[in-house]
Amino acid sequence: MCGIIGYIGKENSIKHLIEGLRALEYRGYDSAGIAYFDENNSLHSVKAAGRLANVEAKLADKPVSHCGIGHTRWATHGAPSDVNSHPHGTASLRIVHNGIVENYASIREELTGLGYTFESDTDTEVAAKLLDYYYKEEKLTAHAAIERMTSRLVGSWALGILFADTPNVIWCARKGSPLIIGVGEDENFIASDITAILKRTRNYYQLDEGEIAKVTRDTVTVWQGEKTVEKPLLTADWDIEAAERGGFAHFMIKEINEEPSAIRTTLGCRIKNGLPDFASDAFDVGIFKKVTRVHIVACGTAMHAGLIAKGAFASLAKLPCEVEIASEFRYNDPLIGEGDLVIIISQSGETADSLAALRLSKEKGAATLAIVNVIGSSIAREADSVIYTMAGPEIAVASTKAYSVQTALMYLLVIGAAMTRGKLDADSARSKVTELYERAPEAVAEMIARENEIGSHCKWLAEAEDLFYIGRGADYHLACEGSLKLKEISYIHSEAYAAGELKHGTISLITEGVPVIALCTVPSLCEKMVSNIRETTARGAKALIICSHDAEIADDTASHIIRLPKIASELAFLPAVTVLQLIAYHTAAARGCDIDKPRNLAKSVTVE
Ligand code: F6R
Repeated sequence: MCGIIGYIGKENSIKHLIEGLRALEYRGYDSAGIAYFDENNSLHSVKAAGRLANVEAKLADKPVSHCGIGHTRWATHGAPSDVNSHPHGTASLRIVHNGIVENYASIREELTGLGYTFESDTDTEVAAKLLDYYYKEEKLTAHAAIERMTSRLVGSWALGILFADTPNVIWCARKGSPLIIGVGEDENFIASDITAILKRTRNYYQLDEGEIAKVTRDTVTVWQGEKTVEKPLLTADWDIEAAERGGFAHFMIKEINEEPSAIRTTLGCRIKNGLPDFASDAFDVGIFKKVTRVHIVACGTAMHAGLIAKGAFASLAKLPCEVEIASEFRYNDPLIGEGDLVIIISQSGETADSLAALRLSKEKGAATLAIVNVIGSSIAREADSVIYTMAGPEIAVASTKAYSVQTALMYLLVIGAAMTRGKLDADSARSKVTELYERAPEAVAEMIARENEIGSHCKWLAEAEDLFYIGRGADYHLACEGSLKLKEISYIHSEAYAAGELKHGTISLITEGVPVIALCTVPSLCEKMVSNIRETTARGAKALIICSHDAEIADDTASHIIRLPKIASELAFLPAVTVLQLIAYHTAAARGCDIDKPRNLAKSVTVE
């Protein structure tokens, strides 16, 4: 998704804009650009389709500047091209924009009637020219013109704005798309996320919905309507090393390697006397005694993490739990209200559909809890309660460590729920917590140490055009995640299937040489899984089995078998998902794919 950076301070802004945009590359983009004031306070724009290097090439004369804004664009309105890249503007101003202006067509018509012409196909140029109209033609102040312009827009925006006649100010505004203001020494920033500015500062203000801010080198003023607001200064507990590759070939493999420590960090502060304790999150597990149903709503990988939690809610806490895709949730007339707890799981905390689901749940009277990785993100702030995962920044587009910490944290939460509902005694709970906190990260680390062995299974997978992931129960939910991971970074078509459902149609697609990855970590389902695997190999499938250490599976059942380390079967999902992530990673690597930046995908999906 698009990225925004802005710098104002004593150093050369060009360097910081490029560095910031480079740090934002992971969000996905197809063009980039900057606007800056030169030493004579003239306003310039440089923009180009393609990689950031194309913008840098256009800056070969190394201009000196102390104030500028930059943008990486992910095309929505208009193809990726130099002219459609941001910034957009007029002689009087430049803007960069994340989000979508839904009513741009009617405003464009209106502005055309007023004599404005347009060179791009973008919605952002319309916003820029509308702002120009209020600033130049109606002669409103900068603040009033921004207020007026945004009041006309329907949609979502994070905006960075430079006015040609005030070279010492960056303006910004937010509705629906995240934006922060970084506070440094003798310098300030605006950014769409903290990773863009971590090299310079960890202190920031989070802009709230509808706010407009004026940022100079040493001041930050924020308005909500006519009133100025005092904002709390937040501090990110991530350091720059966490947002750099640190010798790994890709962020994805670095982040897989961080899973054991991320799980321990996330769980450690929520365990007291060997039992779950969420007091430091101000979350009272007593709520699980009152609620009659839990709904987990999320997207993609986070939704798959919810599926694992659903099984745990049923088996341990005996509490009904539904998992819903956030983009479907509000269109399915959800039957929720008082007595329901809606849990939103989100790494970024900014996913538009998940945020909309949260707002709807609150409107309907449900209690809400956010499981979120990014401190101060929209979902974290709007939910009734929040429990932060502590995965550190996840940069690779393919989510890995976030899933591991989400599932581990949810499992701890369910143990707490089971105890409070009288379904689990303290001793049993304690031994489950020990296995989760002590053994699970070790088991994950053991699989990471076997990376070469796992990678060696991927050469033949890399040649496939289609493949299947199958499993039953929790293994089916793991299969969904394994399949998603493979698709997104290797571009191999794959399907996750409930193993028992294959023969109801899909098995017709299993022919000679089709790879089938079979998950087999649930002991009670192992025998049935073996029958399902044999159904596929009998039709020529080449099977790879991932199973528990002692699963009774004969060597001739499949071409390849990866046995997980010893671990309680209900926690086998943690080392198993690491294997699935490593398979996706090495298969994509064998195909020469751009692993950290898969085509057409964005890290944080802030539009519906
Ligand atoms: C897949 C992936 C996505 C995200 C989804 C939700 O690897 O990263 O499927 O899981 O877009 O994002 P968050 O968790 O930020 O709400």
